[in-house]
Amino acid sequence: MKYLLNTYARYPVEFEKGSGSRLYDVHGDEYLDFLSGIAVTSFGHRHKIITEAAEEQLKKLWHVSNLFESSPQNQLAQKLVQASGLNSVFFSNSGTEANEAAIKFARKWGGERKEIIVTTGSFHGRTMGSLSATGQKNLWKGFSPLLAGFSFANFNNIESVLRNINNNTCAIMVEPIQGESGVIVPDDDYLIKLRKIADRHNLLLILDEVQTGMGRTGKLFAHQWYNIKPDIMTLAKGIANGLPLGATICSENVSQVIRPGDHGSTFGANPVAIAAANKVFDLINGELLAKIIYLGDLIRKSIIEWNLPVIKDVRGKGLMIGIELNIPQAKTIVKNLLKRKIIVGSSGDRIIRLLPPFIIDENDTGYFIKEFYNELNNIK
Ligand SMILES: Cc1ncc(COP(=O)(O)O)c(C=O)c1O
Repeated sequence: MKYLLNTYARYPVEFEKGSGSRLYDVHGDEYLDFLSGIAVTSFGHRHKIITEAAEEQLKKLWHVSNLFESSPQNQLAQKLVQASGLNSVFFSNSGTEANEAAIKFARKWGGERKEIIVTTGSFHGRTMGSLSATGQKNLWKGFSPLLAGFSFANFNNIESVLRNINNNTCAIMVEPIQGESGVIVPDDDYLIKLRKIADRHNLLLILDEVQTGMGRTGKLFAHQWYNIKPDIMTLAKGIANGLPLGATICSENVSQVIRPGDHGSTFGANPVAIAAANKVFDLINGELLAKIIYLGDLIRKSIIEWNLPVIKDVRGKGLMIGIELNIPQAKTIVKNLLKRKIIVGSSGDRIIRLLPPFIIDENDTGYFIKEFYNELNNIK
């Protein structure tokens, strides 16, 4: 990889083809994909309906810019607005851009108030605004000065949020479940309390659902587990099953302060990505969400029942699963599973992350559980 900038520690495997929950490397070997390109290809590889929609659009029109009307873009926006109970959508190309837009919109809405309360351990993206909102100091190293206007509260700690509120605060921004820092699920009343605090202090509640959204936790949006509504929600990752698309969905109050020229993106809402996303949205229904919950519970329960000393905690919601180890061997286990032709992820040295596609069945799950068990027994 001599010509690529050294930003990734890559595994020595190259995939050439995908089909459903399986990937095939350049030697033709088959792998079970329990990572979905980090929560992106939720409907698996080359899903028939999504692929056909993207192919059809590819043959018609690739790009015209956002200077012109687009019915498919409007249709997707309408679906997202109706499903979220919010008011309008800005489309971009990635999670970090969706969050950049959220930060800008919150600041515009806030008027003189520009500060956003974010949380320790959060991950909001790699561009300067989102990075400045990200509560992981190791990711900041070498890149300061960061953007001003973020104050950090401890995640899952209401008192800490209250302590951070001042006359300059305009918003609170959190992930419903922290994904990148190891699938950290807050208390059941955390988002409910944040909503109340935001209302009481006239602040926006911004939910970064880039990873938790689009069905991943067993609800279309993770905040729907708690019967609350954010003022701004960001989406990306699974929204177009692998084509680049981000969305920043805004309440009426926020929408009202945004004017033509306030924000934009050349590639945002690419027609091919929008065509795929319209199908992804249509494919998420009650039956699928119930399956996501069922299979997620099944995987977690099976792992907990082993009662292995190497496992400290098993957590998550739906098919967003984190397994915390008592030993710093997560990366070794990921590599060993790759040798067993199973793809999973890790977070730091101690957490294994599972983000399987929604199309897996009980056979896939059973196979994964058996191989994972063998691997964990091997490692101790
Ligand atoms: C919660 C969350 N927000 C934002 C991002 C950034 O998304 P992207 O890599 O598409 O910029 C991620 C990526 O992992 C994420 O998990």
